[in-house]
Amino acid sequence: MTATRTVRRTGAWFDLGRRWRKTVLVTHIVSAGAWIGIDVMVAVLVLTGKYGTDVEVRGLAYEALATFVVWPMLGSGLICLLTGLILGLGTRWGLLRYWWVAVKLVLNLVLCTLILVALRPGMGEVGDYGRDLPGGASEPAAISDLFYPPAVSLTALTLATVLAVAKPWGRIRPGRRARRARDDV
Ligand code: HEM
Repeated sequence: MTATRTVRRTGAWFDLGRRWRKTVLVTHIVSAGAWIGIDVMVAVLVLTGKYGTDVEVRGLAYEALATFVVWPMLGSGLICLLTGLILGLGTRWGLLRYWWVAVKLVLNLVLCTLILVALRPGMGEVGDYGRDLPGGASEPAAISDLFYPPAVSLTALTLATVLAVAKPWGRIRPGRRARRARDDV
C-alpha cells in the first residue's frame, strides 16, 4: 500500500512506516523508563538527605540532587514528549483522538513545565545547603518541598504507563462509523 493510501486509511498525519514506528516506539519507551528511573533516584537522594545518619553523606545527597538531576530529567521528559508526538501524528492514534493519548500529552507537558518552574529554581539553595550541612547550616524551606517532585512525577508517570498499556476510554469524539450507526438508529 502506498504511503498516501495508508495515511488516508488510518487518519495519520504522515506514514511512519513499520521500521521507523518500531524505532521511535523503542526510543519512547526507553526515555519513559529513564525518566521513571531518574525519579526513583531523586526519591532516594531526598530521603537520604533528610533522614540519613551520616551528615557528610546527607550533604553529598543534596549536592548530587542539585548537580545531576534537573537536565537529565528534563531531557528524558522532552525525548518522551517528542517521540510521543511523532507516534501520535504518525499512527492512527492521533494526539487528540483518543483519551489515553490526550491525557498522556497533558501529563507530559505539565511534568516538563514543573521541572522548569518548580524544581530547577530551588536547586541552587539545595546545593549550597548540601555543601554547608557538615558545618551545621540550618535547613532552608526548599528542602521540605523536595518530597513533592518524586511523589507527583512517579504517580503521574505510573498513570501514563498504565494508560499506554491499557489504552482505556476510547475516542474523544466518536469515529465516522460510530456516528453513522448512531444516526441510522
Ligand atoms: C507521560 C509520559 C509517557 C509515558 C510514561 C509513556 C509510556 C508509553 C509506553 C510504555 C508505551 C508502549 C505501550 C505499548 O506498546 O503497549 C507508549 C506508547 C505510545 N505513546 Fe506514550 N508515554 C508517555 C507520553 C506520551 C505522549 C506525550 C504521547 C503523545 C503525545 C504518547 C503517545 C503514545 C502513542 C501514540 C503510543 C502507541 C504507539 C504505537 O503503538 O505505535 N505518549 N507510551
